[in-house]
Amino acid sequence: MARITAGVATSHVPAIGAALDNGKAGEDYWKPVFAGYEASKAWIAAEQPDVIILVYNDHASAFSLELIPTFAIGCAEEFAPADEGWGPRPVPTVVGHPQLAWHLAEQLILDEFDMTIVNNMDVDHGLTVPLSLMFGQPDAWPCPVIPLAVNVVQYPPPTGNRCFNLGKAIRRAVESYPEDLKVVVFGTGGMSHQLQGPRAGLINREWDNAFLDKIINDPDGLSKMPHIDYVREAGSEGIELVMWLIARGAMSDVNGGHKPKVLHRFYHVPASNTAVGHLVLENT
Ligand code: DHB
Ligand code: FE
Repeated sequence: MARITAGVATSHVPAIGAALDNGKAGEDYWKPVFAGYEASKAWIAAEQPDVIILVYNDHASAFSLELIPTFAIGCAEEFAPADEGWGPRPVPTVVGHPQLAWHLAEQLILDEFDMTIVNNMDVDHGLTVPLSLMFGQPDAWPCPVIPLAVNVVQYPPPTGNRCFNLGKAIRRAVESYPEDLKVVVFGTGGMSHQLQGPRAGLINREWDNAFLDKIINDPDGLSKMPHIDYVREAGSEGIELVMWLIARGAMSDVNGGHKPKVLHRFYHVPASNTAVGHLVLENT
């Protein structure tokens, strides 16, 4: 059977992708950001997942105000890097896993999570920057990736509780897939940032670090936190953090197993307009 071996949470700051793509990763400003991912890159290179389920948000690249799916699962053979206004990022095409993706869609929908099935979708920095942070600049991404897009752009986004429960359902769905596959779930976005309005530039280190503590130690409690707390404390775009609860819900302890091991924890300010946060949790 397929199984989820680990969860990876990470920011997706677009300027991180631009720094890599334009050869600026070695500059003083960016060095500490990339240094924070070195241990994780070594870990995932050794882990060799067969498939990644990558929970992220589209930023009006594939979707727009014309179509706003709350949860969308990419079932295509491949997903091209999106043109976000200055040409697509020079990163490999993302190869999907249609068979597992369709299985997940089926199981999740029958489990009462109404996923939108997407067969044609370009993927923006929300998906490609986490891959770049974890895998660097390879000629091809090392494994298939199933994109799972969450609406956190247009109110109302899903609740943290709904996200947490979706994570649990993803675990059940993965474990009902007969092939022996090692699956890693990425939860991406965040941490505190606000890109517009009078509070643009808001960063809240104390709240971010409390969020990291809570998602490790008390994900149940964290899942009950209302949207308004995210927006007040972590800024309007801090709401992206609800996506981390999907990855967390897929871990062993909240499904009757043991607590995951914290393999890596990283927090850094600033990167562009945000605080960068990152966790690697291994199921035990
Ligand atoms: C920035 C951060 C984001 O999460 C995003 O989607 C766009 C921009 C920023 O820090 O500039
Ligand atoms: Fe974003």
